[in-house]
Amino acid sequence: MLAVVPPPVSVRVPAKVNVHLGVGDLREDGYHELGTVFQALSLTDEVTVAVADEPGVEVHGEGADSVPTGPSNLAWRAVQELSRHVGRDPEEPKVRVVIRKGIPVAGGMAGGSADAAATLVALAALWRLEVGRDELATLAGRIGSDVPFLLHGGTALGTGRGELLVPVLSRHTFHWVLALDRRGLATPDVYGELDRLRADGDPPRVGPVEPVIEALASGDPRKLAPLLGNDLQAASVSLRPGLRRTLRAGVSAGALAGVVSGSGPTCAFLCEDGDAALRVAAELSGAGVCRTVRVAHGPVPGARVVTEDAPR
Ligand code: C5P
Repeated sequence: MLAVVPPPVSVRVPAKVNVHLGVGDLREDGYHELGTVFQALSLTDEVTVAVADEPGVEVHGEGADSVPTGPSNLAWRAVQELSRHVGRDPEEPKVRVVIRKGIPVAGGMAGGSADAAATLVALAALWRLEVGRDELATLAGRIGSDVPFLLHGGTALGTGRGELLVPVLSRHTFHWVLALDRRGLATPDVYGELDRLRADGDPPRVGPVEPVIEALASGDPRKLAPLLGNDLQAASVSLRPGLRRTLRAGVSAGALAGVVSGSGPTCAFLCEDGDAALRVAAELSGAGVCRTVRVAHGPVPGARVVTEDAPR
């Protein structure tokens, strides 16, 4: 009898921006204690997982050349974590993961973590596993600090390493313009730079998170704009001083406010509405301060199966 090969499963997964990112002390495990508010944005990757004789990861799209396809790729880590969890051999999973990038690579928007979240969801559907979202979230947290949020989507408060999530009420749509830099920044370098800056002095720290949560609930971008904040910004700007100019240019172009996204170097600009975002994007792309610009909105859902006929 012929074995039935399940059809490939495709999952769409969003990018994230940290509306607020408070970085606390360095912990003994090498991570920093965070208090952050994530929002999932309409910039997406698509990840397809299929049964294959030649296992591995393939990456296509902008910046694909700089993404590792070996075991260090977070999507492959996701394959191994889920295999181990369900008692399959993590060294020999007969699956191929094809990633189509729409999220900037090494841009502070959690593109690699997004691919891991998408892979968990896709593989669970491909193998028809009875694993709940909570179980997937636990596996996600082992792969990386941002991975649970990319499963979750929407808007959420993250604590611990960023992996402990509580949903935040945000029914309204916010409009963003993203300025992508020519080269990426490695997250550990940016955290390391922050530790160095803190050892030498007193870089600015974000305020309390409560007003940010209230502004999100109000849906008013004018209330949220002055509260955007990121403790890692001083570190990314220190490593990439040109970001100062990019941040100024976005505001000059008409954005309400700008902030470095996560560890950077992508800069995220909050705009009044969708039309304003298009105007800001057009002006910013002519300003010569970044490689390219994107328009996005949030919140959007987390990793979701998009294949028509796949099990959900
Ligand atoms: O968890 P993830 O693998 O995405 O983290 C990448 C790196 O970012 C960590 O190795 C660490 O250097 C830094 N990091 C941190 N504190 C966090 C999250 C990440 O220091 N809460």
